[in-house]
Amino acid sequence: MAFLNIFVGNNQKTMRPLILAAAALAIAILPAQARKAPKTQPFTHETVAIPAVTPGIISVETDGTRLILQVDARGTVRTVHYGAPVGDPGQFLCFRSSGDHAFGAPTAYPTAGGDFNGQEALHVEYPDGSQNTELYYVSHEKSEKDGVETTTIHLRDYVTSLEADLVFEAFRQEDVILIHSVIRNKGREPVRLRNFASASLNLAGDSFLLTHFHGSWAGEMQMEQTTLTHGVKLIENRRGAQVTLESNPSFMLSVNSPFSETDGEVVAGALAWSGNFRISFELDQSGKLNIVSGISPFASAYPLGAGESFTTPEMIYTWSAEGAGAASRNLHRWARREGVYGGGKPTPTLLNSWEGAYFNFTTETLLGMIDDAASMGLEMFVLDDGWFAMDYPRNDDRAGLGDWEVNTNKIPEGIDYVASYAHSKGLRFGIWIEPEMVNPESNLARNHPDWIVQSPGREIYEQRHQWILDLSNPAVQDFVFGVFDRTVALSPRIDYIKWDCNRRIMSFGSPYLGKDQDRFYVEYVQGFYNVCRRIREKYPDIIVQCCSSGGSRIDYGALRYFNEVWPSDNTDAISRARIQWSQSLIYPACIMASHVSAVPNHQSGNVTPLKFRFDIASGGRLGMELQPKTLSAEEKALADRCISSYKTYRDLVFTGDLYRIASPYSGDFYALMYVSKDKRRAVLFTYCLRYQLRVHASHIFRLQGLEPGLNYRVSEQNVDKSCWWGDGKSFSGAFLAGGGFNPSFSQSLTSAVFLLEAE
Ligand code: GLA
Repeated sequence: MAFLNIFVGNNQKTMRPLILAAAALAIAILPAQARKAPKTQPFTHETVAIPAVTPGIISVETDGTRLILQVDARGTVRTVHYGAPVGDPGQFLCFRSSGDHAFGAPTAYPTAGGDFNGQEALHVEYPDGSQNTELYYVSHEKSEKDGVETTTIHLRDYVTSLEADLVFEAFRQEDVILIHSVIRNKGREPVRLRNFASASLNLAGDSFLLTHFHGSWAGEMQMEQTTLTHGVKLIENRRGAQVTLESNPSFMLSVNSPFSETDGEVVAGALAWSGNFRISFELDQSGKLNIVSGISPFASAYPLGAGESFTTPEMIYTWSAEGAGAASRNLHRWARREGVYGGGKPTPTLLNSWEGAYFNFTTETLLGMIDDAASMGLEMFVLDDGWFAMDYPRNDDRAGLGDWEVNTNKIPEGIDYVASYAHSKGLRFGIWIEPEMVNPESNLARNHPDWIVQSPGREIYEQRHQWILDLSNPAVQDFVFGVFDRTVALSPRIDYIKWDCNRRIMSFGSPYLGKDQDRFYVEYVQGFYNVCRRIREKYPDIIVQCCSSGGSRIDYGALRYFNEVWPSDNTDAISRARIQWSQSLIYPACIMASHVSAVPNHQSGNVTPLKFRFDIASGGRLGMELQPKTLSAEEKALADRCISSYKTYRDLVFTGDLYRIASPYSGDFYALMYVSKDKRRAVLFTYCLRYQLRVHASHIFRLQGLEPGLNYRVSEQNVDKSCWWGDGKSFSGAFLAGGGFNPSFSQSLTSAVFLLEAE
């Protein structure tokens, strides 16, 4: 039997007389009334028995990785290894991982209390005000289905009856492990969760270089690197909605030496949650790194009633010894299998009305755009913002959000007329909504002031002249679902919805939750997911884009319901090079909408060649976002060529393995390629970003992912002015990887796309 002392700890014998004396003094100086009616239960000095367990090893295994946990005789569970397969995992039994009380090493799910003082995953406040939790092993079980092994470890606190399950889902072929926890209040009274992270991962290594992603509007997903030093580095966001604008809940970590695309030990992680998040990296006194990831507990001391449980979102991990490229490919494979709605099924090329028309259009404008889109070979037309609201017409961003009826002054014939026209031209049809939002200038704001996120008596701040609806309220969830439902009902020919979310939460608070405001941030996101679930049950086949002022809602929580994202409102091809590169570290190309827009670019003012814009956009889901009437006949012909060749290799972009060849962050040349599973086909994108000195350059790109023994015939696509002299010739995979491939760029912002097909 091991014993846990609830209160006095190791020094109880020496400390007890002092404590008793202090208590007596305190009682002596308390006023009589307070002595008669103590507000809290007195502490007890009894200890609670913790059953001893047989030490053991729990190994969570994918084909190429192991996550190994050790259970010691006291029942403490600790992560002892995450990385390469290690032969017999049982040999970890003799690892001295257990913290002694002087050191207090993190457990597999570190809690506030006990001997631990670091960043905790779980912090519970109990009815008596105490805040210590110590979780010990009870049992574990494993099950396997469709190549996914699930390991569940049951833990409990023997003093409070709090229980936690740690759940590990190992995707064997993808080398991805999902971790989440389930926290259960088995006591008879409610408790409060002051921290309730999804996962804690303890890593050993000599040094850790963290790659993470910061951003701003029109500049999302910018890669940043920092060496972790002792102490805590936090990636956190408290915006409530639009949470991935400033930072993405994901990272890559080099263990020991900085990774490259092809070498080095890498741990990559991403949290599946579309709300406030916190990922802490704590390098402790022993040089070990502990990563705690989950929902941010900011303003969320979440109440858990007796008998209730809380399931945390999944933290998605992968490990590779072959650099960032292999880690990304693992995540992408998992995402296409399970992390992204639609699983990477190719979606149509499209023309979006936004940058071409903004709010200024009539039916005639739209039909004209549809004609032009059809003539260039595009496959869908998407009507963006501005089509709705009568009393407060949506003619700019100051009015109308919330009033989702068609503006018949702009489109008297209705949406079905436009959608049918698109279909008659062989195009599909999509439409924009922003159902979580309301302009103060709207009927909705007047009719339902209690649906708006707000704090009593305080100004409700506007952002983009709008307020945000309180999705923690089931009535608001019904309304938001209804907006989607009613919009789809406008025409049986709606194939695509662009779901936008253009502001964050400020003056946080829910009129619906009353005094229970601690639930707000969590239940806002759960409300959003409830709506998404209902939508997917009713509309499994509609393609839905997740947009949030560009890339402010890019996370694997939302992606379970959305086919694609709008990575940024910045459509400038130069800016997109970096945004798309960074996004590809964690997320697959099948979700990445990328549009060719007009020059000078509306966000950056940059002027880039049309071909360069096409070649950048073709690395994701290709679209256009301009008024086609502004294009010359020559430009339309180039567009036509680029779109038709994209259709021949689009399957590679959506389902192929990504190999990043040259980074736009570190040089003047940028290149990436997508290779088919059987390695018989690949598409290579090469770009010259050099804008000074001797721009005319022939750069050697060493290709990856090809079969050395196969011969590939190389054909240049999207040809404007050929960049290469070997069109139609064949080269072995070995030559292309070792000798390389060298297109010649005649000036800045030239680019070339090549299709490689095995003979
Ligand atoms: C956001 C989106 C844009 C566009 C506008 C419409 O900014 O990111 O793509 O849809 O809203 O108002």
